[in-house]
Amino acid sequence: MKVNNKHYLTVWMEGSTVYLIEQNLLPFKFQIHKSESYKESCIAIKTMIVRGAGAIGATAGFAMAQASNEAPENDYIKFLEKAKKEIEATRPTARNLFYATNRVFNAAKISKQEAYKAAQDIAAENVQDAKKIGEFGNELIKDGYNIETHCNAGWLGFVDYGSALSPIYAANNEGKKIFVYVDETRPRSQGARLTAWELKNENIPHAILPDNAGAYIMSRGKVDMMIVGADRIAANGDVANKIGTFEKAIVAREFNVPFYVAAPCSTFDLDCHTGNNIIIEQRDEDEVLYQTGLLNNGEIEKVLVCSPGSNAINPAFDVTPADYITGIITEKGIIKPSVEEIKKLFK
Ligand code: MRU
Repeated sequence: MKVNNKHYLTVWMEGSTVYLIEQNLLPFKFQIHKSESYKESCIAIKTMIVRGAGAIGATAGFAMAQASNEAPENDYIKFLEKAKKEIEATRPTARNLFYATNRVFNAAKISKQEAYKAAQDIAAENVQDAKKIGEFGNELIKDGYNIETHCNAGWLGFVDYGSALSPIYAANNEGKKIFVYVDETRPRSQGARLTAWELKNENIPHAILPDNAGAYIMSRGKVDMMIVGADRIAANGDVANKIGTFEKAIVAREFNVPFYVAAPCSTFDLDCHTGNNIIIEQRDEDEVLYQTGLLNNGEIEKVLVCSPGSNAINPAFDVTPADYITGIITEKGIIKPSVEEIKKLFK
């Protein structure tokens, strides 16, 4: 997508350097971060310089390729195995991360060149899959629709286009009049900071919605559909996504609002039978206790916004049972979240 009239990807690799849009600084500063080694790429994933399942996956693939480049000839496989473990420990919930490390690790066993190619392929496929998700999802959007979304499953969460936002971009490009309710998505506010920034750049009408206003807005009949992304989808269609997604799904069901999940096949984990088996990342309580914002002097600063001395709990994701989901929009089409349909998708 474009930033100041220039096309950017969220993450890319040239030579042995990985380039990333520094998402911790958005929407206040647009800056490219460089990571020169697999360890630096691990830090970028862990500290959320890059975030969102698809973008994390692409970065993890590049990190594996960097590791293969850095590995000594006499200890090549051992070095790779250790690096793979380190990369996989950065963010445990995003399935795309493990999809990428496995694929690039297997390619690296053949050669460094194969590892590099596999990592570039993963990033390129990520773009194509997201574009396709947009085309299929667009078929569900009618002219005049009000759509609610949670967190950021836009192009910043992928390499380009996004998952949940891709259908919205496609509908907007076709000239459909749409309005987007953007869940703020505390504690890190990916909705208020990143999704709102993306939509503003594309001139798509939208408003940021406090996290606890979902029931109010849906009960007034103001939401025609909800589209969210996914971090991991179990074999039975249960979906792990940003914390708060399950609450929205419960409210959507109460008010008969269709609830769609958008994700590529690389987010499905067929070895995970139900959502109960998905590991939920627990993050630092400081993300709840502090907020980072722009001061009048142009500096970005972190401030305490809760009662000093109180503790916080910070689960990063929750699991929405398949039963609450109207459909899953993938690059191969829209499916019902059931064991049978998911099996068919992978045939
Ligand atoms: O913790 P994050 O920002 O990496 O969270 C992941 C997400 O962005 C979401 O859960 C998103 O809705 C799905 S992944 C594009």
